[in-house]
Amino acid sequence: MTPVETHRPSPLGLGTEGLVFGCDYNPEQWSKDVWREDVRLMREAGVNLVAVNIFGWSHIEPRQGDFRFDDLDEIVGLLHENGIGVNLGTGTSSPPPWLTTLHPEILPQVGDGTTRWPGGRQAWCPSSPVFRDYAMALVRETAARYGSHPAVKLWHVSNELGCHNALCYCDVSATAFRVWLQRRYENIEALNDAWGTAFWSQHYAEWAEILPPRDTLSFINPSQQLDFFRFSSDELLAYYTAEAEIIRSTSDIPVTTNFMVTAHIKTQDYWRWAPEMDVVANDHYLDHRLSVPHRELSFSADATRGLAGGKPWLLMEHSTSAVNWQPRNHAKAPGEMMRNSLTHVARGADGVCFFQWRASVKGTEKFHSALLPHSGTDTRVWREVVELGSLMDRLGELAGSVVHSDIALVFSWEAWWATDQEAHPSSELHYLEQVHQTYEALLAIGATVDIVAPGADLSGYRLVVVPCLYLVSDADAQVITDFVAGGGHAVISFFSGIVDEHDTVRSGSYPGAFRSVAGISAEEFYPVDGDESIALSDGGSAGLWTELLHLEGATTTSFYLDGPLMGVPAVTRHGFGQGVARYLATRLDAGSLAEELRHAASEAGATTLTPVAEGIEIVRRSGPQHDYVFVINHTNEPVAHAITGYDLVTEADLAVDGVVAAGGVQIVRQSRETS
Ligand code: GLA
Repeated sequence: MTPVETHRPSPLGLGTEGLVFGCDYNPEQWSKDVWREDVRLMREAGVNLVAVNIFGWSHIEPRQGDFRFDDLDEIVGLLHENGIGVNLGTGTSSPPPWLTTLHPEILPQVGDGTTRWPGGRQAWCPSSPVFRDYAMALVRETAARYGSHPAVKLWHVSNELGCHNALCYCDVSATAFRVWLQRRYENIEALNDAWGTAFWSQHYAEWAEILPPRDTLSFINPSQQLDFFRFSSDELLAYYTAEAEIIRSTSDIPVTTNFMVTAHIKTQDYWRWAPEMDVVANDHYLDHRLSVPHRELSFSADATRGLAGGKPWLLMEHSTSAVNWQPRNHAKAPGEMMRNSLTHVARGADGVCFFQWRASVKGTEKFHSALLPHSGTDTRVWREVVELGSLMDRLGELAGSVVHSDIALVFSWEAWWATDQEAHPSSELHYLEQVHQTYEALLAIGATVDIVAPGADLSGYRLVVVPCLYLVSDADAQVITDFVAGGGHAVISFFSGIVDEHDTVRSGSYPGAFRSVAGISAEEFYPVDGDESIALSDGGSAGLWTELLHLEGATTTSFYLDGPLMGVPAVTRHGFGQGVARYLATRLDAGSLAEELRHAASEAGATTLTPVAEGIEIVRRSGPQHDYVFVINHTNEPVAHAITGYDLVTEADLAVDGVVAAGGVQIVRQSRETS
């Protein structure tokens, strides 16, 4: 038997071994006695990376230019003495009151021109040169002081850039927007053309006439809106790189910031951000407003792995139990925190961290869960934290192992921005919802999916799935066409390929960019009302959206049995070049969508792991010596599952006729020869 390496060096580049288990810590809230108690308990829990100084500005610079690092020195030193690494915040995420008092012009404005005041957090305009000057001065001081401190393993720039302040409509932003537009279009007529300003008397004679898309009486110009999203994402990215540049000039420690790949924040195009990160890190919170919260978690984890280019990544924040910012904040069920954490690990995370260490007793987040709850250590949450900490230590051998997939799903922030705009055929079509439903169907057939950017190299894949890619450039659409021509298989769903990068409709026939590869043309859209369901010839059902489709080489897989498009093809299949493209002109019911994807995957020869039962998730990570099969049971029942190998969770060999416990997780080590 091959000996097992217990702690492989972390590929995150933090100079550590094994997996990361950590948290945010806001010691500014506590007395120094509490710090010592906290560090003792952190050791008990197995915490090995702690983020500090995330919101530290008003502590380390209580007055302009008066830098006081004594407390931060002490906490960094204390963690270091106890063998705990530091994930050091630059402290710039929220300006201190002296700064907003001295320079109220840094405050952001929303679309109606009103100011958003201090008293919360992140009250700064991303384009403000004044804010930037002060923030960079702080970064310079902090980087100089801790740039080679042995405790510091990672730099944490600001915090969740754009969580609240992504879109600012103030005059400073307006000026910066114009500069960005001049760089993009070079001459004003190119902008007029791209934005279609010939319509509704919007033609611009001078750059100075252009404003951010502030609140209007009617619909806003969609291309202006789209460019404003792009500009706003780029502004915060430029802000990140400005901080990172200062840090890198004095420190060799890796630099990152925490992404928010999540359903409720869409303002950063992380495909553009990811190359600037030394380590890709994400924050994820279960959103109980979604129909299947854990599916969105899995999607977020896969998307983060995509952003990391398939390399391991870091879960920078999630919660041990309830959050405090949803309408009803559900405490996690026993075992749920473990399951959530291990789902991230299954999908490529080499570390699991939480917000925050000790539950606050004052301030906005006092009802947000923490590793150490208000009720102390004699609690379920604490016991589960300690259990997870010890498991994360045992999982050290997984460090650097990777997830392989031969199925790609194309996901685009730009398409999200464009699809969800106003004045479209149906206000009920939401891009992310369609992406999630498609992803869910792929999970249901046991597929492991790589989330890729439009235009990504598809050569390693057998099947590419393209849900509702309304906006796509000619070049990016061509990559998909070429993939199919060369023998790949594609599933493209409705309202794809419609507009180019300027949101200009491709005339001729829908689905524009994908018409020839799909071998169909659509003459008109027929959105479907609310919950209405239309029967299909293969026994399935359609809803939300239908299209008046004509065959141009494709064959019909199913057609509508009633409704205004009775007899019209709903799903088609087209042999194109060496490959096959399927087109779904409607939103299929979940079972039919899964069935369609199952056919596509099997015809493409794509690998799917046999799904055991509804609610069971299976993912494989592969290391140099072993495979690790994660079996995650999201149901409240034990599920029979025949798998052999050593379970790293229970630390026992699995019986052939074993079960995965209700709500439980198995991480089954298998040597390559037997898997
Ligand atoms: C975000 C922030 C944290 C905290 C959590 C609460 O992730 O980065 O500071 O506010 O949300 O869920």
